[in-house]
Amino acid sequence: MDTSDDLAALRRRIAMQVVGRERELDLVFATVAAGRDLILEGPPGTSKSTVLRAITAEWGIPLVLVEGNADLTPSRLVGHHNPSRVLREDYSADNFVDGPLLEAMRSGGFLYVEEFNRAPEDTIDTLLTAMAERVVTVPRVGVVAAHPSFRVVASMNPYDNVGTTRLSTSVHDRMCRLVVDYQDAAAEREIVSRRAHPVTPRMAADAVAVTRMTRRRDDIRQGSSVRGAIDLAMVGTQLCAMRGVEVPATDVVDPPRDLPTDYTSAFLDAMLVALSGRIHLDDTAFTTAEGILTEIWQDHFLLRPAAAEPG
Ligand SMILES: Nc1ncnc2c1ncn2[C@@H]1O[C@H](COP(=O)(O)OP(=O)(O)O)[C@@H](O)[C@H]1O
Ligand SMILES: [Mg+2]
Repeated sequence: MDTSDDLAALRRRIAMQVVGRERELDLVFATVAAGRDLILEGPPGTSKSTVLRAITAEWGIPLVLVEGNADLTPSRLVGHHNPSRVLREDYSADNFVDGPLLEAMRSGGFLYVEEFNRAPEDTIDTLLTAMAERVVTVPRVGVVAAHPSFRVVASMNPYDNVGTTRLSTSVHDRMCRLVVDYQDAAAEREIVSRRAHPVTPRMAADAVAVTRMTRRRDDIRQGSSVRGAIDLAMVGTQLCAMRGVEVPATDVVDPPRDLPTDYTSAFLDAMLVALSGRIHLDDTAFTTAEGILTEIWQDHFLLRPAAAEPG
């Protein structure tokens, strides 16, 4: 990180790996370059990992992943002595196996704690101490100091409130925070085209359109992310090939009207496979995932084809 030219070139290379997200890249990059730690708050599938992978890869530092859940105890985070070696040799720094926290501190990587708010409170306290002191003292090992590029980046899903800890104000007081949300339809079509190929523009557009519709319904608590659209486009493409169905070549800005029924019925089958497990119904919903998806399919292909896709 020396001259501003280098920084600008680095920033451009990072941007090539990510569709859109200019502002988020700027903000994440500025935060970590300033030596700060960060919470990314957003639903699954909103490019949190993609952005961090791009930044760390271009920066040439490790991204150490750890999932926050009830099993992530402080000792799993920090590390443990190899029990069989302890029996033979007694405790020593030599037979200590680094956990993800020490691995990231020693290598100067980013420790990426997904679902941060699902980690036990004492684990979060251990992390806060490491962030504040930039050293961790391990009994019978000694003091482990963090390499200067070590950072903690945490993610959490704002819709997730089962089995989670309410983060205390002391956590929020020590970290910066960036809210990320779903991208617009054009960006999602581009993501699907990059991740699911070969896929035609028509297939990508239909997959993105119905996936976005799952996020706007009152009977769905949380709809599908772009991951569902990627899978839908891939399964749909495969299914059409297997059934000898041609994917229409109509332009994606055309309304999806009068498409051949062999295409639309293959698309419905692919939708049920790709999306039914990814939508979480509202507790009061008086129907099934399959029922809702069939309605969305009808809305998209039969009823509202003239309606412009917002955003
Ligand atoms: N802006 C983006 N550019 C490129 N690919 C993306 C983007 N957003 C999401 N993806 C793709 O969508 C999937 C989910 O993204 P990911 O970054 O893992 O989400 P998160 O970490 O927020 O759950 C991945 O396959 C990823 O490649
Ligand atoms: Mg992720």
